Amino acid sequence: MAFTATLGDKQVRCGEDQPVLDAFLRAGVWMPNSCNQGTCGTCKLRVVNGEVDHRDSPVDTLTESERAAGLALACQARLRSNAVVEGTGGAVGRTTYALRELTGTVLEIEDMARDTRRLRLGLPEPLAFSPGQYVELTVPGTEVRRQYSLANTADEDEVLELHVRLVPGGAATEKWIFGGVAVGDRVRITGPLGDFCLSPEDESGGEPMVLIGGGTGLAPLIGLVRTALARAPEREVLLYHGVRGAADLYDLEVLTGLEEAHPGFSFVPVLSHESQREGAFCRTGFPTDSFLADVASARGWSGWLCGPPAMVEAGVKAFKRRRMAPRMIHREKFTPND
Ligand code: FES
Repeated sequence: MAFTATLGDKQVRCGEDQPVLDAFLRAGVWMPNSCNQGTCGTCKLRVVNGEVDHRDSPVDTLTESERAAGLALACQARLRSNAVVEGTGGAVGRTTYALRELTGTVLEIEDMARDTRRLRLGLPEPLAFSPGQYVELTVPGTEVRRQYSLANTADEDEVLELHVRLVPGGAATEKWIFGGVAVGDRVRITGPLGDFCLSPEDESGGEPMVLIGGGTGLAPLIGLVRTALARAPEREVLLYHGVRGAADLYDLEVLTGLEEAHPGFSFVPVLSHESQREGAFCRTGFPTDSFLADVASARGWSGWLCGPPAMVEAGVKAFKRRRMAPRMIHREKFTPND
């Protein structure tokens, strides 16, 4: 049985087994969201009246006292009656790009670095999104769903670019993207998702930006950097790419080309498990340490972190040490997408 969720002046119908977040995003009504798996807490909302089933909401993310106080995780909760909800922070309720399901086609598969592939997926019609967001793919012939960030800018809306790292034994990576994938494969795509993005109204006036990506965490940062530089070509933008070794680096030509075109942009590759190669321009160590060595004060800057949780947490600490305001710190943690 379907019920209605009301948020301010917006009302949406929620199907019996449909998460509240899914219903709002499909209607183009914004709710903060990041993991869509019940682990980050970004989508917490308050149920002012009505009943919800918390379903698989982990107690680590939504405690018993929070449930008793009427909070719910929108990405997990299902309605059990009509309900009135309100946000717990962020720009809840604004209009956003509607969450959609499309069937895409694999157009191109490219080995771009060690154990790393670029996948280009053609869409039957444009998908509106904000750079930095992600999509969820359903592995063909299975119900396995995996999330991948978009490396695109918003105007590249008919061919999606994903960067994928091999996870040995992985149902999506080893078995499909590094296994049986073929040009022409049809794949179900759900998106856009996530709040790691420059939204259209984020015309920030061109404050300096620092972005740190670990491994394929570079993907959304490429979309964000190209968007930021297109909006403010003189902007000061520092991009660090942390990888284990030189064989893991990719898109060097794109990034050095951007450096030539934009004097305010710097790209810094950082190798954690290799010493500097002869004549190479890489640093060694961790990218957050490179940032701390390079920047004396990041007051007034925005910071963007995408990669494994330990790297993201180290980045948040480094940004705060350099006096970046917490509200200017954006983060996207990912665990290996097998
Ligand atoms: Fe992460 Fe819901 S808990 S989006």
